[in-house]
Formats: sequence, structure tokens, C-alpha cells
Amino acid sequence: MFIVKKKIHGNDYFYLRKSKRINGKVKSIDLGYLGKTKEEADKKLKERLKKESVQEIKMEKKILEPTKINVEEMAIFCKKKGFIYQSGEIYGGFAGFWDFGHLGVELNNNLKSEWWNFHVFKRKDIVGIDGSIITHPQVWKASGHVDSFNDVFVVCKKCKKPGKADRYELGKVKCECGGEYDEKTAKDFELMFKIKVGESGDAYLRPETAQLIFANFKFVQENARMKLPFGIAQIGKSFRNEIAPRDFLFRSREFEQMEIEYFIEPGQKCPYEIPDEEILIYSSEAQINNQESVKMKIRGALKKGIIKKDWHAYWLATEFSWFKNLGANPDNFRIRQHMDNEKSHYATDTWDLEYKFPFGWKELEGIADRGDFDLSQHQKFSKKDLSIFNEETKKKVLPHVICEPSLGVGRALLVFMFDSYYDDKERGNVVLKLSPKLAPIKAAIFPIVKRPEFEKIAEEILDDLSEEWNVIYDKSGSIGRRYARNDEVGTPFCITIDEESLKKKDVTVRDRDTTKQVRVKIVELKNILRELINKKLKFEDAGNLIK
Ligand code: GAP
Repeated sequence: MFIVKKKIHGNDYFYLRKSKRINGKVKSIDLGYLGKTKEEADKKLKERLKKESVQEIKMEKKILEPTKINVEEMAIFCKKKGFIYQSGEIYGGFAGFWDFGHLGVELNNNLKSEWWNFHVFKRKDIVGIDGSIITHPQVWKASGHVDSFNDVFVVCKKCKKPGKADRYELGKVKCECGGEYDEKTAKDFELMFKIKVGESGDAYLRPETAQLIFANFKFVQENARMKLPFGIAQIGKSFRNEIAPRDFLFRSREFEQMEIEYFIEPGQKCPYEIPDEEILIYSSEAQINNQESVKMKIRGALKKGIIKKDWHAYWLATEFSWFKNLGANPDNFRIRQHMDNEKSHYATDTWDLEYKFPFGWKELEGIADRGDFDLSQHQKFSKKDLSIFNEETKKKVLPHVICEPSLGVGRALLVFMFDSYYDDKERGNVVLKLSPKLAPIKAAIFPIVKRPEFEKIAEEILDDLSEEWNVIYDKSGSIGRRYARNDEVGTPFCITIDEESLKKKDVTVRDRDTTKQVRVKIVELKNILRELINKKLKFEDAGNLIK
């Protein structure tokens, strides 16, 4: 754009012009009148540019930001597309239990394997276990669950539905419907599911995976020859008889947890660099003083003493970075310290990584400092020495769990679904922009039309790629319809075999998020796809870009 001066009847008039190529010729077109003096024209142009750039940013933001939907809409979407169904739905559904469909199971598995790769494979200081769901009932006595893993059952005065509260919340929290809870109905409600094992008596379905780590702590330490500081990780099912399961996967009765117990010698410093992450921080002090959370560097919060221990800062930043690197929107996260009255019976300090769910800021992952509570308890109840020998100090030590990052798989899954759900009005369909690493289907392979020579190549590519990933073959409907179907379930790449493929032995690969397409040689396809999935290659550099 440029300013031109025109003389009309001896007077100066300033206009905004622009050069444009029309039918191969460069022409200049008027964009509008700017005023009678150069100063006036400059000022108007400046205002116009500012307005346009604001509009552009707004447009970009509109495209870049996921569409806000509520949790019921997300549940409907998940059911419609084959991710998640209410368990026993053909019998009216069973509250608090969910079944994963053909896409849900893939997404769930990918999520868990990403967590395991990051927390176990890539680290030398953490090993994994897989404990049983039902274990010796004494484990739950020692852990304190039998005596104190309760919620308070209350009934709403207005809607008469049962609700749950913590003791300290009585009289303060209200029911979803806005009604007050009737304090006369308040009674302790045991959250563990009691079951019968053989003839011998009562046992429990585990309410957390953590205790299996403590109960096996000594064996794992010895067999894996772990030296402090070290962690033990586990992924598995947990069960809680929630009084009021709600908000889809957020609060269910059967769910999966991904947990780490991180053990240190008491007082041992964190040897790792704290990831340089910035996040909203909400200390217990700020909550007591009715202040807002403040965005700051986690390292800065440690320096200022807001976060007391280096280990806590390290694990909070590490966990946040895991979500960010898998495509979650960092603006939807904050860390919040537990107030004294909400800490669990075992915790000395707890920070939650919270996420801004459509139903408010809620706990996504708890990161508690459990001290030596659990190992001391199991030592006391089992009468076994659980302390370990420190080769360096030549002393026996009962390690402390300095941090317990504990994350629900279902809650993490919701985060990635909400942050990747785009209702693209221009395309006329939802685009689920899941990280390719999480996407249930990595690639969809299409013959452009149903012709045996195209279908043969498509099937060969399918065989080759399916050795490594979940890929699909789709030949029904128009190509546009097939793209839309795959956009909606988050398939990052669509591969089309067309006339040129026969001659040049190449295919088109389409990028879900930008709809850009490149041509890639079939022999290079698998390597290129691997690099694209692992974000080691920019899509534009993956092949010849189709203009
Ligand atoms: N071992 C510690 C522990 O279990 P928690 O705060 O009770 O701590 C840890 O649970 C995480 O497990 C939570 O942050 C949440 O992600 C998940 N979680 C807990 N209860 C859940 C439920 N009823 N439904 C789904 N996820 C749940």
C-alpha cells in the first residue's frame, strides 16, 4: 500500500493505493481517500493499518483458538465418533463407569504410552511396576484408607439429590442446582469398594495405585538397584465409590491413574534443572487473602519462597511441560497449593496442577509431598524393615516421598480433547487437532477413485504403515467427505493415491491442520510419516508442496 497525491482544480488530495496483478498486468487501485494534507494522510493510514492488524490478530485468534464446548457436548461428541460410551448404556447406563470405543482405546493407549516414555523410558532414575488391583487388605489399613478415606454424604435441600463434601466444606459448598446441603443428612461415606475374596473375607478394590508402589518398594529398589533419589511409576485402574460421579470422565467410579512415587534421602537437594516454565501460580497465602493467581516463572516462585521445595518446583514444571509438549494450551493451566484444611491425611504440602475445564478450575494432577508417612506405616504394620542402605553415607535410611505426581488418565484425555476441538465453519466440520503422537489413527489411505490399480497401491501402503501404526483404508464417499471424516477424529495425515502415483510412484499427503498437501515418494513415505508424527520435520519440508 502507498500514498499518492492528486491535484484536482489546483488543490491537493491524498489517496491510498495498492498495486495488484490483474490478468498478468500490474494495475494500481484506489483503496480510499486519506485527506488534504500529507500529515492528515499519514495519520489516517496509521490508524487504518492499526485497525487492520487488530482485525487480522482477531481473525487469527479465531482460527487458532479451540471452540468452547461444555462437558455434556464433549460427551456427545465422544459417543458419536466412537471414542467413549457410557457403560451399560443399552440398559440405561451405569453412573460413574465408561467404556472406550475403537478410537477411545487408541487415544487412551497413546496417552499412557506417551506418559510412560516421558517418565520412565527417557529417565534413568525411574522404573515402572504393575501391581495387582486387589491386594492384601492390610495395605489399606496401613495406608490410612480404611480409617480416613471418606467423603461426607449430604442431600440437597432443593433438588434432593445426594452430594459430597469435605468436612471443612459443610455449610460453605452448595449443590450444582444452587441449593444448600442439609447438614442433618451429613454422614461419613466410605469411598473404597469392599469386595469378597473367596471365603476368607473382606478386601478392597484399590482406590489409588500408589500403595502398590510402597508395598513393593524394597523389592524394586533392590532388584533394579536404584539409588536415591529415584522414582517408581505405575499406570493402572483405581476405583472409588464416588457419591456423585459427574462431569463425564472427570469424576468416575472406575478410572486409571498414572502415578510416580519419588523417593529421596531426607533433605536431599534436587540435582535436576527446573524446566523454564511460566504459569499462573495460586499459593495458599493468596487464597487466604482473597487474591488472584499470578503468572510467573516456576523458578521465580521457588526463589521467592512461594514454592518451598526445589523438588516441588521441579515436578510441577516437568508435569506442566509434558502437557504443553503434547499440544495442550498453556493458558488453561495453573498450579494451586492446597490449604491446610484440604490436605490429605498423608501429605505435608500439596500443589495441584489445575486445568480450566468448562465447569471451572479443577484438579488435574495432584503433586503431594508425602514425607515418610507411607513407608513408616507399612514398616509398622508389616513389621518389615523397609529402610535401604545408602552406599555413599554407609547408613540405613527410610526414604521420603518428596513428590508424588498423580494424574488421572481420563482427566488428561479430557484436557487434550477440549484443547484440540475446533469447529471449523469454513470447512463445515470439526477438526480435532490432537498431537499426531496422541491421534488414534495416524494416517488414512485413500485411492482417489475406486480403480483396481489405485486400490492395489493403497493396500500395499496400508500393509506397510500398519506394521508401525494404527492406519486406516477408506474408499467410500467423495474425497472431501473422507477428509472431513478424518479431520473429525483427529487423523493428522491423509494419503491419496491418484493417476500420477501410477507414473511417478508417489502420493499426496494432506496435513489435517492446514489442509496443505505435499507429494511424497512411496519408498520414502514411512520414514517421512515417522518424522512428521514425532514433529522432527515441518510439513512443508516433507515433499513437493502442491500449490
Ligand atoms: N495417590 C494420590 C492420589 O490418588 P488423588 O488426588 O486422590 O491422589 C490423583 O488422585 C489423581 O487421580 C487426581 O488428580 C485425578 O486426576 C485422578 N482422580 C482422582 N479421583 C478421580 C475420579 N473419581 N475420577 C477420575 N479421576 C480421578
